[in-house]
Amino acid sequence: MLIKRPKGWEMKEREATPESVFRARRRLIAGLGLGGIAAGGLGYLALAERMGDTAPVRSAEAAPAGPVADPSASLYPAPRNEKYQLDRPLTGERFATTYNNFYEFGSHKNIHQEAQRLRVRPWTVTIDGLVEKPLTLGIDELLARVSLEERLYRHRCVEAWSMAVPWTGFAFAELVALARPLSAAKYVRMETFMDPSMAPAQRQSWYPWPYVEGLTIEEATNELAFLATGIYGKPMPAQNGAPLRLAVPWKYGFKAIKSIVRFEFTDRRPKSFWEVIQGTEYGFWANVNPKVPHPRWSQATEQVLGTGERVPTQLYNGYGEHVAHLYADKTGERLFM
Ligand code: MTE
Repeated sequence: MLIKRPKGWEMKEREATPESVFRARRRLIAGLGLGGIAAGGLGYLALAERMGDTAPVRSAEAAPAGPVADPSASLYPAPRNEKYQLDRPLTGERFATTYNNFYEFGSHKNIHQEAQRLRVRPWTVTIDGLVEKPLTLGIDELLARVSLEERLYRHRCVEAWSMAVPWTGFAFAELVALARPLSAAKYVRMETFMDPSMAPAQRQSWYPWPYVEGLTIEEATNELAFLATGIYGKPMPAQNGAPLRLAVPWKYGFKAIKSIVRFEFTDRRPKSFWEVIQGTEYGFWANVNPKVPHPRWSQATEQVLGTGERVPTQLYNGYGEHVAHLYADKTGERLFM
């Protein structure tokens, strides 16, 4: 995420990144003659282009770091749901798993190594708030109660880069059915783990930890809303949000909260992490719209991760037929930021 200018709660990358990592990355960038390209933002795309390393790769060719001895490993790969087709090639696994946003581990994109500190077992998920019976269960118990499938989805970051990946997971509607929300519940508020001993950036008190996101119940039960537990036919690597993250492909990527520990059903619209930090730039709805620029850059096009190609961005990231009706009566709302 790009932040306008450091305020009390903001930081420079140097401050966010462990010194050794910061220096190593600077050396790498300098060595490649890319000193003029920002290390964050679209730096990785430029790097891939310059190195000629742009061809998409399939899962078998790549060996990204992932959870060790994950007890759910035998559940993968799950059968693919062919209903969700892509209009572009899949992003190479090594790009999708090495160019990440995971602020709990630092504010740069090369976060996959630090993210290996994430311990994903035991992992407890709490479902509470306005529900018939609050529930706390281990991730493996949850996995046993849902049906896993693979879906190919696009992902459009608000920073104007995109990828297309095979998530494994289950429909959010299945979790809502488990939760049995009361009729007063209008929203689902989701929360990421909070453990500064594992995620050092959570010691930075100017961020409003833990990471929080929210959806309306209608959005959460829309068929596209997906809780992802794996990617590329394997359990989710730490850096992509193990063991449970959201995929809502019609919204900007910051809505796709990672490493969720709590789903709270509520009658109050949740205020998300980025909304608290900079509400004029990152709102609750955050639906993709090429015609509504971010206050500081255009959203008309996006750079495809791994190929560096720039392609037009589509309204609702191309998923309008599934979701446009959700917003028909929301006049006066800032639906696209
Ligand atoms: N979830 C948490 N907990 N922390 C984060 O920093 N970053 C968000 C989102 N979910 C983030 C998060 C942003 S800005 C994006 S674009 C996506 O995760 C990136 O997902 P990816 O790394 O799997 O591509």
